[in-house]
This record gives sequence, structure tokens and C-alpha cells, in this order.
Amino acid sequence: MKSATGTLRYGVIGTGRMGRHHVRLGTQIEGLELVGVVDRDADRRAEMTEKYGGKGHAEVDALIEAGVDVVVIATPTVHHRAAAERLLAKGVHCLIEKPLAPSVEEARAIADAAARSGALLQVGHVVRYDPVMVAIRQLGIGMPRFVEVDRISPMTFRSVDVGVVLDMMIHDIDVLLMLMEREPERVDASAVSVLGDSEDVCNARLTFPPDRHGHRCVANVTASRLAMKTERKMRLISPEAYVSADFQERKGSVVRRTANDARMDEIRGQLKAGKDLSSMNWLDLVSMEPLKVDVGEPLKLQLEDFLDAIRSGRKPFVDAEAGFAAVRTAERIVAAAKALDSRGP
Ligand SMILES: NC(=O)c1ccc[n+]([C@@H]2O[C@H](COP(=O)([O-])OP(=O)(O)OC[C@H]3O[C@@H](n4cnc5c(N)ncnc54)[C@H](O)[C@@H]3O)[C@@H](O)[C@H]2O)c1
Repeated sequence: MKSATGTLRYGVIGTGRMGRHHVRLGTQIEGLELVGVVDRDADRRAEMTEKYGGKGHAEVDALIEAGVDVVVIATPTVHHRAAAERLLAKGVHCLIEKPLAPSVEEARAIADAAARSGALLQVGHVVRYDPVMVAIRQLGIGMPRFVEVDRISPMTFRSVDVGVVLDMMIHDIDVLLMLMEREPERVDASAVSVLGDSEDVCNARLTFPPDRHGHRCVANVTASRLAMKTERKMRLISPEAYVSADFQERKGSVVRRTANDARMDEIRGQLKAGKDLSSMNWLDLVSMEPLKVDVGEPLKLQLEDFLDAIRSGRKPFVDAEAGFAAVRTAERIVAAAKALDSRGP
């Protein structure tokens, strides 16, 4: 379907809160032609096509018939599989919003459909493209020993088709699996449901298998959709550095071991000699640098990277197996929280 000029014919399935951003990007990225959108809601698809062009369809099959090379699937998670299977079977490349699916079984089915198809599948774990996350990775601080993550927001009454682990914590689960390059060996969790059957607040402690030096990492992850404020924070501690990042403020700070070695040697010597250092101000002693964060819209960077994977034939940055692993870890967290609840006094 690709045109002679290399332009990719682009479509978006589901034009709600997330989908409308993907539609907009279809008109902002060079080499893409927005050919159509699919939404069950006639008013929504009309609003999109009037603003951005392309044709509106009620069904995925109509978009396939019109001819499309690449789509973003941004329907509620429970509908990802139906759309993905049809599109992948027809060789259409799919960027599927996170989480890949609401269960391990459905995530497996989509990953298998991708493996059978010649088309590429990427999962929209967009935090990987957040300039704050990119800056953290570029520091090269080695495998952290301890990570602390807070992702809390007031209730939006959206994405309530899944619990807070699949809705919000999944972002951090994916980032942790990327940083550790493995799934956790042990999962402990505690959760509370307030508005429905699914959990609305969850805290999980994930222990990752040892690295080649025999060191494990523990991640303490909290997600809430019932909070009174919005916070997106991450702290990482490795033998090489302490990193503190605020994704909302788009900033962070780094304390490197190498930058503080000489000073710490001095202090170690004084402590050994029994000197009283209680009048010293720790903040004056430690050398801290700001995290260098670039500008850029994560959603746009994600789509551009997926298009590059399609054009070059390389593996997508967040492939179906990565999306599957995130859903599997999410399910383990929910199961661990349920097991804790049913354990009794
Ligand atoms: N990457 C992120 O940061 C992020 C943030 C929020 C939501 N999401 C994900 O994006 C997806 C969509 O969430 P949302 O908040 O935009 O939902 P939404 O309810 O705002 O929008 C969903 C749209 O899909 C349409 N729709 C529903 N079923 C359909 C079907 N079978 N075929 C075609 N259209 C259908 C609805 O009419 C609606 O317009 C979810 O998977 C969610 O987890 C990702």
C-alpha cells in the first residue's frame, strides 16, 4: 500500500482521550498520510476528520478496505485484541496503546498474531520516550540496587475497565523491566479497591534476579488513582549514583560517586579518627548536578521511532514480547495483593 514516495498510509482506531493526540500527530509527522479514523461514536470520528482530514469509519474492516499501512490502536484496552488480530492478519503495522491487553491470555494471543504476521507491533509504553527517562538512561549508572516510584493522580473516571495496576503502574513496570532487562523473581503487593472490584491504589515490592555480580535490585512502586494531587516521581540508587527525577516538572538531580569520592574519603578519615561532625551540613558536602533533560513530545518521539523501525525493518523498541512481559508482571502484582488479602490474621 506504501506509495511510490515512501509515504505511509496512517489510521487511528479509537479517537478518545489518547486517540485524538495520535490523529493530530498523523498530520505533523513527515512521510505520513492520515487516511482515516475508526470510532464507534459517529460524532467523535466526525470531529476528528473535520479537524484533521481523512475519512471516518465505524469498523476496522472499512479502514483496511480503504488501504492503510500503519495504525495506532487507542480503543479501551478490552477491545485491543479484536482490532489487532484483524489488522495484523492483513499485514498492517500496529502501535497499540498500553497496556497491550487486559490479561496474560489476551496479551499472548496478540503477541502470537504479531509473530504470525509480517507486520510490526509496538506497545505504547511511552514513558520510555519521556526525555526525563531518556536522560536517566544516558547517565549509565549501572543496575540500580533500589528504585522507588510514585505515580499518583486524582480519579479521572477513565480507563476504569482495568485496575490501577494495568492502567497506571504498567508504565513503571515496563520501565523497570527495561532497566533490569528481566522480570522480577519475587513480587509482594498490597492493594485497596474503593470504587469498584478492581484495585484503585496499589503498592508493590519487586525483587529482581541478581546481575552478573550477584546483586539484586528491589523496586518499591506505588500507584494511586484516588490521590488528592498528581505526582510522577522516581528515585534510583546504584553504587555509582543517586538519581532523583520528577517527570511532571521535567527535571531531576544526580549525585555521582566519582564526583564525591575525594570528599567522602576525607569524611571517612575524620569519622575514623573520632571527630564530631554533627555541626556539618550534609547538603554543603555533597556535589549534585542537574539532570540534563531535552525537550520533545514523548508521543511524537514514540511514533517517529516506530515508523523508523517499519522503514528500516528493525525490531521495535517496545515489541509484543515486552508488552506481554509487562502484562504478566502486572497480573502477578494483582495476584500477590489478592493473596495477601486472603491470608487472614
Ligand atoms: N499512554 C498513555 O499515557 C495512556 C494514557 C491514557 C490511556 N491510555 C490507553 O489508551 C487507550 C484508550 O484510552 P482513552 O483514555 O483514550 O479512552 P477513551 O474512552 O477516552 O477513548 C476510547 C475511544 O475508543 C472508542 N471505541 C470504543 N470501543 C471501540 C471499538 N471497538 N472500535 C472503535 N472505537 C471504539 C470510543 O468511542 C472512544 O472514542 C487505553 O488502552 C488506555 O489504557 C494510554
